[in-house]
Amino acid sequence: MFDSLEGLTRSHSCNEIRAAANGVEVVLMGWVQRRRDHGGLIFVDLRDREGLTQVVFNPEVNPDTHIKAGALRDEYVIAVRGLVNLRPPEMVNPNLPTGEIEILVLELRILNAAKTPPFELEDYKVDISEALRLKYRYLDLRRPSVMKNLIFRHRAALVTRQFLNGQGFIEVETPILTKSTPEGARDYLVPSRVQPGQFFALPQSPQLFKQLLMMAGLDRYYQLCRCFRDEDLRADRQPEFTQIDMEMAFITEEDIYRVVEGLMAALFRELKGVSLTTPFPRLTYQECLDRFGLDRPDTRFGLELKDVTDLVREAEFTRFREVVDQGGIVKAVNGPGLSRLTRKELDELIDLAGVYGARGLAWVKLQSQGWQSPLAKYFPAGVKAAIEARLTAREGDLLLFVADAPLVACTALGQVRLNLAEREGLIPEDAYHLTWVTDFPLLEHDNEAGRFAAMHHPFTAPKEEDLHWLATDPGRVRARAYDLVLNGVEIGGGSIRINRRDIQQQVFEALNITPAEAEEKFGFLLEALEYGAPPHGGVAFGFDRLVAILCGARSIREVIAFPKTQKAACLVTRAPSPVGLEQLLELGLRLEK
Ligand code: AMO
Repeated sequence: MFDSLEGLTRSHSCNEIRAAANGVEVVLMGWVQRRRDHGGLIFVDLRDREGLTQVVFNPEVNPDTHIKAGALRDEYVIAVRGLVNLRPPEMVNPNLPTGEIEILVLELRILNAAKTPPFELEDYKVDISEALRLKYRYLDLRRPSVMKNLIFRHRAALVTRQFLNGQGFIEVETPILTKSTPEGARDYLVPSRVQPGQFFALPQSPQLFKQLLMMAGLDRYYQLCRCFRDEDLRADRQPEFTQIDMEMAFITEEDIYRVVEGLMAALFRELKGVSLTTPFPRLTYQECLDRFGLDRPDTRFGLELKDVTDLVREAEFTRFREVVDQGGIVKAVNGPGLSRLTRKELDELIDLAGVYGARGLAWVKLQSQGWQSPLAKYFPAGVKAAIEARLTAREGDLLLFVADAPLVACTALGQVRLNLAEREGLIPEDAYHLTWVTDFPLLEHDNEAGRFAAMHHPFTAPKEEDLHWLATDPGRVRARAYDLVLNGVEIGGGSIRINRRDIQQQVFEALNITPAEAEEKFGFLLEALEYGAPPHGGVAFGFDRLVAILCGARSIREVIAFPKTQKAACLVTRAPSPVGLEQLLELGLRLEK
């Protein structure tokens, strides 16, 4: 049937042999990427994790082997022993690192056969549906461009560990079967068999454990850890994902910024050969909203938003007036040269603003004869000139306005800004902009629930000077929290933590968590805070997001070995799946149909 590997040891990978090895006997093993028959010779591209090498079956070198090679098909698993041979100059393949040589096969062993794969594994065939790719992920991963991402990810983990080890961090594993930690998503629950009716939650992050480790005196902790969040999925969200999780004791924000900037500099240097300038720029949350419309600003291009509320007050336009009178604002952005946009394209922008809650998006095309816009007649010449000056507008530009509640106006126009930049190709491909976002509000008002919720999580320390607002005007309290944003993507976030029980209790109160609830959910933390909790703080990075950006992947699914679909399913194993009645009974569970 099939041959064994007995007596054969692999000598090289399929991306290793170069012209200097001419005449050397080698042993290679891998998959048949392609077989071509050419006038008596059979050529096979042999593939392994590292790359491709061409192997040749020549009836004059070994007639038996040549006959045997006739049976080879795509994805058969083989081992070959042969001699390195320089290709004739006209056969050299400059696109392949091993393109100068081929292996003249002396011995072929067929180790296994393969059915015809459901899609071609050659890299340039990219129009395969993602569902098919994910179902046969082990085949998809054989494609070099996909495999390359996993290897890149491994190197990123290595650089991270090396850097943090060098800074005195200790890697500690924390429990997966644990209690709910409030990071803002739903929990994945695991029923306990031993204690029927009781549940573990999978950790949304190791937040409380890393704080307890600081209270234990570990001083500097890190972990490449898995986190689980049951939330609506997007291109950069997975139900289980990996964090670079860190925590430090006896530090302030500045110490954390320094360590993180060092880590990012190491990652970019080692993996991209890019030298980052440190320290990274810092923007407050409010500045981000004002200038970019979002708390994760993409600073690789301009098109900054401007507030024109004061100017439109002078105009006769009632729609804007009403909004301003009710405490709203009017934000504007200038799309340079974009007065050429069609009515349909403008409608698309209006729809986009609508998705983010804006009731409208007003537009002005700056033509040689002045404003072309439904708004034109309401604006006196002086106001027009002042708006143009504020937006540094020129003939041919497109001015866009959103009048709404401040957060809606900023968010909607921020999205329009991103859309304009993408549409116009204004985003430089190889630029990496890292920005700290600071001074977040501690709490945000959840209008639906009619109460405050933690913007990060309830263990974030308030700024000392804002503490007095906690009882009287909680929305004004700023947090000692920070996010790190890379090219408009939030890659990490963290904070200095509360290390005093009385303050922790005050924050719980502001969050409408009753003392009984606090005791039930976080009693262990409150107690630990009473046994000498040092000042501490930390940060966590979305490792998948970071790796995806570094290797230019479109989605984090491209850098995860076995990712889940938009519906949080694993197509390889078909999880989640039903379980038998017996298993349910054992867990004390009954399904409602
Ligand atoms: P946070 O919730 O901000 O903070 O998470 C940190 C980073 O994790 C990444 N991330 C995700 N990546 C992929 N899929 C997801 N579903 C997902 N959710 C979050 C983001 C994010 O910036 N315990 C705190 C950290 C701390 O305070 O130290 C925490 O988990 O890149």
